Amino acid sequence: MRVKAKVILSGVLGLLLLTQACDNPNRLPDNVTYTEHIAPLMYKNCTGCHREGGGAHFNLVTYADAKKYGAASAFVMRERMMPPWPADPHYTEFVGQKVMSERDIRLVEKWVQDGMKEGPADKMPKLPDYPKGSLIGTPDLRIPVQPYLLPANSIDKFLLVKIPFELPADTYASVVEFMPGNGGVVHHVNGDMVKYDFDKKKTVYVGENIADMIEDSTIKIAFEKLGLPNDDGTYPTLQKSVVNYLPGTYGQRYPEGLGGYKLPRKGAFLLNDLHYGFTKDKAVWDSSYINIFFSKLPPNRPVQEFQLGTIGVSPVLPDLILQPNTVKNVYSKYTIPEDISVLTINPHMHLIGKSFKAYALKPDGDTIRLISIPKWDFNWQYFYTFKKLVKIPKGSTIVAEGVYDNTKNNMNNPFSPPRLVKDQNGSMRATDEMFQFIITYVPYKEGDENISLE
Ligand code: HEC
Repeated sequence: MRVKAKVILSGVLGLLLLTQACDNPNRLPDNVTYTEHIAPLMYKNCTGCHREGGGAHFNLVTYADAKKYGAASAFVMRERMMPPWPADPHYTEFVGQKVMSERDIRLVEKWVQDGMKEGPADKMPKLPDYPKGSLIGTPDLRIPVQPYLLPANSIDKFLLVKIPFELPADTYASVVEFMPGNGGVVHHVNGDMVKYDFDKKKTVYVGENIADMIEDSTIKIAFEKLGLPNDDGTYPTLQKSVVNYLPGTYGQRYPEGLGGYKLPRKGAFLLNDLHYGFTKDKAVWDSSYINIFFSKLPPNRPVQEFQLGTIGVSPVLPDLILQPNTVKNVYSKYTIPEDISVLTINPHMHLIGKSFKAYALKPDGDTIRLISIPKWDFNWQYFYTFKKLVKIPKGSTIVAEGVYDNTKNNMNNPFSPPRLVKDQNGSMRATDEMFQFIITYVPYKEGDENISLE
């Protein structure tokens, strides 16, 4: 009910504003120019990534840039490929969503059709200040990731990377932020934290720091190469999803009292994985690093997580065996045993994925929408953060549905002609498949629905 009221209210407000502003808001200016119309729109929607060190491989900062990529830009905006935001904003909204208005897209199209005029220099906006070193503040501790030389003409690399640390005492952190050294090649990061019992590991600085997910064929071999086990061969605890990165995303800072981590005296961040895109002509170095923001308070409501699907709490049904030249629907569902407040969700599939949808069915029959991704995009797998905590009551069934397209119509199909592709027990190779829906949450408390995460 509340949602509806809000929509109506904002509709009325919108109308009021429009009638005040001009007679027809959808009318485009006769003379669309770069400095007056296009630069402001690109600085708002594109240069977060399309600038030096921003993560994309070309810039959209100057008139010359914009002109060079004008037609391509109009195309990718119209197709809603850029800015990348695969989730359907009409189904659910999230923090930081990147969705352009229809009018802005038409502006760019008109600009291109009319010959991409530059416009008056005094209308040119200033490029936003993009912070260096951290996107969220001044970190208390910075730990370098071992520099990596990405060979020329390489294929995409999926690495397991260990970033060990030893601290003088147990410490609390509010956020752990990954900063790419070379934004042009670092594609994405999912990272966990390894926590050692102090006397079970003499030193964390043993073993290699980097393993190759493909060459070091199994996780077990890779973990041993990285020297992760305790001295007696047993395994330390792993805290999942402590640090994640995708171009254009920020380390998530939650309101006071929510989230945060206890950092052990001996530990390591385990990037699991760090995905590098390929480079063409020359080998390039990457020296990324991790920023830690300490917190005085212990995490009194630590964020927890579970996942549906592959190696999760509920199986993929029917199994994830994708015969060549077929389209297959799968699902996974799980009934939650307690009231939870959801913070973020992360749908995960690989290259054969076509679409994804998730929702919760409440015991009273109502549906809570979680996410719909009509066109799956392997490259943009965000941890989507809800604007406010979403309560899902005990006894609700969370349902995740996926469609896989293992035909030649799927442009991302890694095999031509298509081959049998399946779930290999959670293998993260992009050419094997996975179906996962990861949920981060805290146990529900009265009033959580009003906590904003923006
Ligand atoms: C969140 C980061 C991000 C934002 C925001 C973003 N881009 Fe991109 N863009 C990329 C990356 C990275 C690529 C490289 C292709 C890939 O990995 O998907 C790319 C590729 C492109 C391409 C080339 C497509 C191709 O087929 O090679 C165009 C054109 C483009 N972007 C235009 C834009 C425009 C215009 C905007 C703003 C309306 C924008 N992008 C916003 C990250 C971004």
